[in-house]
Amino acid sequence: MKLFASKCIDTVEEFWTQKDWSDVTSFGSQLHIQEFCVNFSEYLGLSNSIVIPCSTGEEALYWALKSVLFNAISKKVLVCGFNCSVVFRSVNEAGGELIKFDRPKPEDYSAAIMALILNEKPSVLIITHFFGAPEDFSELITFCNHHGVFIIEDCAHCLGGKIKDLMVGTLADASIFSFNYDKPISLLGGGLLVLRTCYEPNLIKSGYLKGGLYKKRQKYEKISVFLMMKWLYWRRNSTGIMGIPNRILLRLLGNHIIHFNRKIPLGPIRSHLGVILLSRYKQVQEIRNNNASRICFPHQTTGWQYAPTVKPAWLKQKCGPFRLQDISRIERTARDHSLRIGNFNWPDIFSEDSTSNRSNMEFAKHWIDIPVHQNLTDSHLQTINRLLHDE
Ligand SMILES: Cc1ncc(COP(=O)(O)O)c(C=O)c1O
Repeated sequence: MKLFASKCIDTVEEFWTQKDWSDVTSFGSQLHIQEFCVNFSEYLGLSNSIVIPCSTGEEALYWALKSVLFNAISKKVLVCGFNCSVVFRSVNEAGGELIKFDRPKPEDYSAAIMALILNEKPSVLIITHFFGAPEDFSELITFCNHHGVFIIEDCAHCLGGKIKDLMVGTLADASIFSFNYDKPISLLGGGLLVLRTCYEPNLIKSGYLKGGLYKKRQKYEKISVFLMMKWLYWRRNSTGIMGIPNRILLRLLGNHIIHFNRKIPLGPIRSHLGVILLSRYKQVQEIRNNNASRICFPHQTTGWQYAPTVKPAWLKQKCGPFRLQDISRIERTARDHSLRIGNFNWPDIFSEDSTSNRSNMEFAKHWIDIPVHQNLTDSHLQTINRLLHDE
């Protein structure tokens, strides 16, 4: 074990400076929340939708689901089973019945989901745009309208991606965005719900209160962001012998900090930061896409597959399948180079193998996450490619 390990390069990194942080903590005002929502709406090119600030992507999904499930006969919600556990939690909390599906290949996407809809007769379909690569579900829109299925785009990983020249997050009845630390724009927390204006009355009837579930906790925003900055610092400085105190702090306080932060609404500070970061995002997205194109996949592996009709806005690259011993080797060697590469999404979600989640199982167990973010240097990218190919 190294005594002095350099700061770990994370899988996804934020793009603000110390000066941005000082600016937003001194000038954040309620008006910035509105400004961020308006700028976000303009960025997406929305016309008939409202944008609602939330504490997390999870809360945004909760309200999207509530606004349709409160008066739906079927409570079934179709969602890809390879997913973040908070998505499943949100469906349960909103009173939905989870129907998990195996992620279809991009070329079979619409046909596979149509068959599922005919079979299960759900009220809601959640389309997840994983890791920055949009799923082309455009053929499903008319079909879902015809069968009374409400579509939610989960854009937690994908901001700025396109489906046939349409911005991801603008095709469905609702879409959700996350600003957590590992998302396209990190504000160390927060989320947005985009909902077609015609569903606004449903949202109100479903019990939505302006300001969201945790409205009263806005006063803790500054301390919460400060604690998340500490948490990130510990996470990235926890290797080597000198990292032992940070590992202890992470173990003792990490989950409490995250739990606390997830119940703080998107307030003036994060919104102000959001306004700044959104204006820089195009450039950041170009760098990430360029870095993603420089990853060389080893023999018998591929990157994350997507349809030729979409344009990704990569958050990270996914690569697989790898044998378990190769994943351990890559994770270990990457750690020695202070890079966070490995099998992080979502290795523990399946307890049993079954034919109905074969692809999901393979992604969860045999695929790895590779950083492509804007802070990588040429040397990092060379190291990544070398360690992917080392036998
Ligand atoms: C695919 C996906 N959707 C939604 C979410 C929820 O985002 P949040 O952490 O803001 O609740 C996550 C969280 O990581 C996610 O990975």
